[in-house]
Amino acid sequence: MQFASQLVERLRVAERVTVLTGAGVSAESGIPTFRDAQTGLWARYDPTELATPQAFVRNPRLVWDWYAYRRDVIEQAEPNPAHYALVDMEQHYANFTLITQNVDGLHWRAGSRNLFELHGNISRIRCFECAAPVTGWDDDGELPPRCPHCGGLGRPDVVWFGEGLPAPALREAERATERADVFLSIGTSAMVQPAASLPLRARRAGAYVIEINPEETSLAVIADEWLRGPAGVILPELFRQAGGERQSPEEG
Ligand code: OAD
Repeated sequence: MQFASQLVERLRVAERVTVLTGAGVSAESGIPTFRDAQTGLWARYDPTELATPQAFVRNPRLVWDWYAYRRDVIEQAEPNPAHYALVDMEQHYANFTLITQNVDGLHWRAGSRNLFELHGNISRIRCFECAAPVTGWDDDGELPPRCPHCGGLGRPDVVWFGEGLPAPALREAERATERADVFLSIGTSAMVQPAASLPLRARRAGAYVIEINPEETSLAVIADEWLRGPAGVILPELFRQAGGERQSPEEG
């Protein structure tokens, strides 16, 4: 795999690198992307209609069960070479920020630490009413579990459609976006705001913008480079050609 020399050079000399990831970065770990056809029991439901506060109020058990199913898939999955390459990049660059829309926690499990999970994390539960964390529920008991403080229903600690993003994380993500020399957008359809606008902000602030995605997205018009293919193949090789060293043995 040979990349354009200008692209490799940009990454080689970069000091501040910021990366935005979406569901595509976990596809090679076996986690279906958000807009993939849902399979099995859940095939007849539209995810965009389950991931809302209105859906939860209407049918808390249905929404709980959908997230429980996804949590099971995620628990059995392992980080892939793209996750590990991002860990290596965090070690390599003086200033490296990872922003993810994913709620699967795989970046953290792989070892990324300067990480902003803009849409929350599916493994955490908080109260729908008072937002207190709910821990240690019993899967054989009443579901969703009740909040120990106010008796409200427990919900996944993720951002649903129509809800705001955690303000401090969004602020940090925007700061890192605006000071990046190189900005990579990996495995996102770039359809959900405000995350989708980050690559454009980066470009306007002078960053070199690289997209990695097997499919064309709306970023095609603003990215300096579109690397067409799976993140787990392209990213480790790109980083290697830009002078990066592999630390993670799992990177194959
Ligand atoms: P999507 O499911 O919308 O898009 C996944 C993207 O990954 C698509 O553009 C695919 O072409 C690409 N893709 C698939 N396999 C890939 C691979 N191996 N390597 C690289 N790219 C690959 O997921 P997101 O863009 O993450 O929000 O969706 C954004 C948000 O929409 C999600 O966080 C979720 C949803 O609403 C919430 O839950 C709040």
